[in-house]
Amino acid sequence: MSMKITKAIFPVAGLGTRFLPATKANPKEMMPVVDKPLIQYAVEDALAAGITELIFVTSSSKRAIEDHFDSNFELESNLLERGKQDLLDIVQGILPAGVSCAYIRQKSPQGLGHAVLCAKQLISNEPFAVLLADDLIDGGKQSCLQQMLDVFQQTQTSVVAVEKITKEDTKKYGVIDVESTEHHITSIRGIVEKPEPANAPSNLGVVGRYILTPAIFDLLENTAQGSGGEIQLTDAIAKLLKKETVMALQFKGKRYDCGSKLGYLEATIAYALKHPEVAADFRLLLREFAECTA
Ligand code: G1P
Repeated sequence: MSMKITKAIFPVAGLGTRFLPATKANPKEMMPVVDKPLIQYAVEDALAAGITELIFVTSSSKRAIEDHFDSNFELESNLLERGKQDLLDIVQGILPAGVSCAYIRQKSPQGLGHAVLCAKQLISNEPFAVLLADDLIDGGKQSCLQQMLDVFQQTQTSVVAVEKITKEDTKKYGVIDVESTEHHITSIRGIVEKPEPANAPSNLGVVGRYILTPAIFDLLENTAQGSGGEIQLTDAIAKLLKKETVMALQFKGKRYDCGSKLGYLEATIAYALKHPEVAADFRLLLREFAECTA
């Protein structure tokens, strides 16, 4: 019998030091790309894949994320009184009916693996998704997570999303070992967190979308600190591989690394160029700007 995945974990406790001072008092996941915060894009990716239970692993400075997905009576009644129905629809449509949110605190920043482990008590013996808001993915017709779920439906195994990366960038990613990097869907032979280019098993880096079976929790509990002194999800996946098949999907679409300034700027330009309200004027602006600086 095939299992349905209804829960997704969003690890959002990270300090966002790469964007200081912007992230001193505001969560990095609340930084907007045009007019939506990064976390909302990740949530939309999950919702499009049929996820109905959102689990945020947060920290003390991340209250704005809870407020974003809650109702705001004052704002909503103000918009209603002023007849701003279009804006009211935007605000009330952030989460569709029937979707629930749970928040759990990661008391200290001990890494992605530790963050996922914090959510263990909210996941029964069921497969679940993990989405990192830093990775903004435009899957085109089908969200990245939906593409991964299609693989999961066929295999009933864990699935990680990967993309080709440059040799010098292997130090920034979990990198997988596969028989051939030309297969878009393939099983993984090994995985290593942030290897030096010379030690990288391939040029396929993991991006921030995972479907995991619940066996990962016991493995995480027994995973020691790894790269950067943190408990790495990658290290637990390496152990999972010894017990179960784990698939990799080279997804269709474009991923923006919004954990870096340049990736964030690229995402802002790409999303502005397809935003119905500003696209045409923004295109002109960019053209003028390019001519002035040429
Ligand atoms: C995390 C993971 C890494 C993965 C990356 C994707 O690293 O540990 O394996 O490739 O996300 O964005 P981070 O970017 O948090 O250092």
